[in-house]
Amino acid sequence: MRPGSAGDLSALVRLETASMGADAWGEAALAGELAGIPGIRTVLVVAEPGRGVVLDGGPAAYGVLRAVGDTADVQRLVVAPAYRRQGLGGALLRALLYEATDGGCTRVLLEVATDNSAARALYAAYGFAEIARRRGYYSVRRDALVLECPLSPHRPYGERRA
Ligand SMILES: CC(C)(COP(=O)(O)OP(=O)(O)OC[C@H]1O[C@@H](n2cnc3c(N)ncnc32)[C@H](O)[C@@H]1OP(=O)(O)O)[C@@H](O)C(=O)NCCC(=O)NCCS
Repeated sequence: MRPGSAGDLSALVRLETASMGADAWGEAALAGELAGIPGIRTVLVVAEPGRGVVLDGGPAAYGVLRAVGDTADVQRLVVAPAYRRQGLGGALLRALLYEATDGGCTRVLLEVATDNSAARALYAAYGFAEIARRRGYYSVRRDALVLECPLSPHRPYGERRA
């Protein structure tokens, strides 16, 4: 795993297109994340395939987190379909939450679609709990759940539950 950089832009566009279908972020959105926003701490981490594994020459997964004051938001967490259920999503999430804690955040929030059972299971396993529901957030019939996970230096990322 390593911090993302401007040189990752085209590979991340490919990863989004291959992984997220109609919800894929385009080049402009990704360039914005890589450039960051003044006054907001942005953490973008990419995970590359192991040695000897080739995935179009680009990352197998990436995640983005923004932090303002004591609160961080997970903006994106994407694992290429071929690399799912191998622990990569959890490892990336831990890396993002560790960075948030290291920067002084005491809680992290995110939105997840109610029908995204894989992501909901992942976040629940790492200690996220539902605090609100946003009706029609993704589309007319697709609500978002707002999840929260407390952070502390003694608990730098949500504890993995069995
Ligand atoms: C959600 C996502 C990031 C998970 O990545 P992943 O690398 O497959 O996750 P992990 O292998 O680290 O899984 C960790 C745990 O999450 C849960 N989990 C992950 N995928 C799951 C699935 N399809 N069904 C049920 N539980 C799942 C399990 O508890 C899993 O632990 P286990 O494998 O020991 O049972 C991946 O499915 C993805 O990229 N989805 C599309 C993008 C997306 O929806 N991102 C989240 C937006 S909010």
